Amino acid sequence: MRRFRRLRSGESIRRLVRETKINKEELIYPVFVIEGENIKTPVESMPGVYQYSPDRIGELLKEIDSSGISGLLIFGIPAHKDELASEAYNDSGITQRTVRMIKEKYPDMLVIADVCLCEYTSHGHCGVVHGHEICNDETLPLLTKMAVSLAKAGADIIAPSDMMDGRVAAIRSGLDENGFINTPIMSYSAKFASGYYSPFREAAESAPCFGDRRTYQMDCANGREALREVLDDIDEGADIVMVKPALAYLDVIRAVRDRVELPLAAYNVSGEYSMVKAAAANGWIDEKHIVMENLTAIKRAGADIIITYHALDAARWLEEV
Ligand code: PBG
Ligand code: ZN
Repeated sequence: MRRFRRLRSGESIRRLVRETKINKEELIYPVFVIEGENIKTPVESMPGVYQYSPDRIGELLKEIDSSGISGLLIFGIPAHKDELASEAYNDSGITQRTVRMIKEKYPDMLVIADVCLCEYTSHGHCGVVHGHEICNDETLPLLTKMAVSLAKAGADIIAPSDMMDGRVAAIRSGLDENGFINTPIMSYSAKFASGYYSPFREAAESAPCFGDRRTYQMDCANGREALREVLDDIDEGADIVMVKPALAYLDVIRAVRDRVELPLAAYNVSGEYSMVKAAAANGWIDEKHIVMENLTAIKRAGADIIITYHALDAARWLEEV
């Protein structure tokens, strides 16, 4: 008889042979910053997550700084939205101002800037709209302007999440032409048209006012196509690639890991977070146990970097041991 249980007899030996460990440095916390003053609005569908105005975000930054995680992914919510997402590439827009402020206070905190138009457009789509069509090529210059503007504000990494074709190449040349040859691109390469994003759309006030995102985000059934998207983004110049969501797409994370040498990020998205929080609030599951199990699964599947709303809790729990 093989006695597998020998290596499970106590926590010390289990720790010794544990194959997958989460490090705080691999975690990134998403942050929502909203135009205005003295605002800290709870996102109802995401307990523990808030929209902050720039003047109130200090308390959160302090927590992130002392947590030991690597940094944050910033989403801005402007006061003014229009057809062409003007605030997205306004050098003194809400996101740009906040990035500048964070980097002044915490030069070592990694600030990753999400690049997409949906929080800034009046219609809530991720690209330029004509009639009911979301136009690919007209969107690219706007995304590029947004990326350059955020790099100028001091963003350490540019993270396009729009899923327009050709945007990585467009953004790369825009960054290079403006002197940001050393600003990396973390591309949301395999981003699926997922039902798991709905709490985020409350947090970012970015729900599309007509239709859905299925003409640009991927069909959730397509694992092979995800690899083509990833390989193409690498060709276009991505430095880090991403699979999103994470938990329902662990097979995709694994497939990418096996084919690609670049750092791989996985986004443990809002709906994944909300489901855990809701079940935990009901006393149906043990939150810490489930969160650490989920994060371990994402890492085991092959992710190097995990973007998660659980990041600050997880960092605390990793300290405990
Ligand atoms: C915007 C964007 C979305 C998310 C990240 N960037 C939502 C969407 O595509 O509708 C989802 C994040 C989450 O659900 O936590 N393009
Ligand atoms: Zn978008």
